[in-house]
Parts: sequence; structure tokens; C-alpha cells
Amino acid sequence: MANDAVYPIEPHTKIEGGHMSVELHFNNQRRDVAPGISLFDYAESLGINVPTSCRKQGNCKECVVEVTEGMDCLSARVPAEKHLEGNFRLSCSCRIVKDSGIVRCHTMRRGEMRIERDALHLPGGNQKLKLEPAVTRDGDRILLDGAEIARSTGPIHGLAMDLGTTAVVLRLLNLETGEVIADASFENPQRFGGSDVMSRIHYDTEEGGHLLQRTLAGYLTHAIEEFPVDPKTIYEMVVAGNSTMRDMFFRLNVYSIGQSPYRSSTELEMADGHRTTTSLAEPANKLLLPLHPKARAYGMPIISGHVGADAAACMLAVDVANEERLIAIMDIGTNRIDCRQPAQTFCRFLSRRTGV
Ligand code: FES
Repeated sequence: MANDAVYPIEPHTKIEGGHMSVELHFNNQRRDVAPGISLFDYAESLGINVPTSCRKQGNCKECVVEVTEGMDCLSARVPAEKHLEGNFRLSCSCRIVKDSGIVRCHTMRRGEMRIERDALHLPGGNQKLKLEPAVTRDGDRILLDGAEIARSTGPIHGLAMDLGTTAVVLRLLNLETGEVIADASFENPQRFGGSDVMSRIHYDTEEGGHLLQRTLAGYLTHAIEEFPVDPKTIYEMVVAGNSTMRDMFFRLNVYSIGQSPYRSSTELEMADGHRTTTSLAEPANKLLLPLHPKARAYGMPIISGHVGADAAACMLAVDVANEERLIAIMDIGTNRIDCRQPAQTFCRFLSRRTGV
């Protein structure tokens, strides 16, 4: 759809009001609007998908939008928005209150990013990698770690997620053939909790209620439902991300990652002998994901403190376990990780830290 296209209100729409002279730009679509209607209702009339699981009741907190212009044209904040500051509003709870002006806003998903499917010089290159999925088939029995979780002759899909502080990338694979079925990417919608991990830790700890995770889950649900497969054929999801993003996604308390000595609660529990690995495994439906009811979400292990599951995924990708040379791994993102260790020493270190 062309940017800034004008959509006059059709006579049959339920959107009514007085003088329609407020110019609303929502996700780069434009229409003239009347006072009294919520931003969510206007988004719906424009065909814009706003995440929600409470259907505009002000409960789920997923319908956050960023208002970049015209905040003065909107109604005052309501108690349901007390967790939001600055330019962020709940679109179901804020209404146009002026009859002239310009409002510009967008959902937290501002657009697709380009995902590179191939990387140069990775071990294996274009050769077919040996598949070792945790989800396998025995006739019509679908097994997770050898235990039956479903009966189906249909395809078995798995989902990989790179959960960054600023961007989220999903890749859907057929776990029997290794075929990449689809990709998706979007900005991490948790921006309203701050742009860096320390801000998000503070926000998550202060606000409670897993608001950041719930918002992300709403966006993930939309992305998963747009894939060209039945979400119920997805039996496992693997999550890589920095320690904060990973633990927040799994609804863990992230307070300790923001305090010296900057440890995930999984590291602390492992040090106390209460767990044998920093990896995580939870039912996907507990994390509000629309996958198969018995699907598992697996969080890759954390190495140490802020050297998280994203670094572990990187080491896996470059096959560091079989690397004899002295190598460095650098992740340049919101967080930078620079590992300078002889590969095998590093693997032993990783094994000690993660229990894998
Ligand atoms: S739609 Fe749930 S809080 Fe707005």
C-alpha cells in the first residue's frame, strides 16, 4: 500500500464524529479523522494489525503505539497506561480529542528487515548439515526427546528465534528435511521499556506483570500466524538472545543481571546446585505462543553474565568445538561481546559454565 495514501471515511463505517479535520498518519497510512474515536479503532478501519489479546479492554497492554507528533490532540492518559511514559500510548485507551491538527503514530512493528539467508565461510557452507532435532517422527507418532507428544502424518516444523534488544528474527524450518520455510523479522516492540538492556531490567523489575514479555508475545503471535503453515505443526522453538532478553522471554526475574556480579538467576541456581545447566525449557503455551499445545520453547545456555545465549549460538554456528585455531567472536549489537580464547579452552570454559 502506498505511503500516505488518503482514506476518506466511508459512509457505512461506524466511525462518526463532528468536523473531520485531524490528519492521522498511522503506520504511514493517512486519513482524516473525527474526535472521539480511539487510535485502535482507526487502525482497524485502515486494516492495520494492532496486537491485542484483550480486545481493547485496556488489560493486555499489547496495543502500544509510539506517537511521534500530535500528542496534544490525544486524550489524557488513563490508569491502564501508567506503565508508559514519553511518546508511548495504549492505542485502545487514547482518543482523538481535538478537531484539527496532525497526529503521527505507529505500532511497535515499523517494518520488515532484510534477513541474509547465507553467510560466507561458515563451517559446512552450502553443504547439507546433519539434522539432529529433538522432535522426531515414528510413523504417525511425533516425539519430543523420545516421548510422544502428538499423532500426525503432517509436517514437523521448528522455529528458531534470535531475540535481540533491538531486533527479533524468526526462522521456520521443516525439521525432517531441513528446508527453511519462512523468515520474519521486526523491531523488538519492548522499546517502550527503554532502548538498552539495563533500562529494560529496571522497567521489568519495577512494573512487574511481565508486560514486556506479553507485548513481545503478541507480536510473535502475529508473525507466527502469518507463516504459511499451521502454527500447530510447530513443535519446538529455540531461543537465542542476550541474557536479559532470553530470561525476560522465559518470564524469569532479571534483577540479578543488572546488579554486580551481573548473573542470570539460572547461573546463580546452577552455582547453588539447583540446576545442571543454564539452558531453559518451558511449554510454549505458558509463554503465550500459539504453537502446538505440547510444543516446547528451549532457551540456549548462557555463558556468563551478559555473555549470553546469543554468544553460545554464535559459537555453535562457527563450529567452535572443532576449531583448532585461535579465534575471536565478536557480536556487534546493542551489546558487544568479544571472546579471545583458544577455541578448545573456550569450549571447556563453556561446558563448565553451562553444563552442556
Ligand atoms: S488492546 Fe489490550 S490493552 Fe489495548
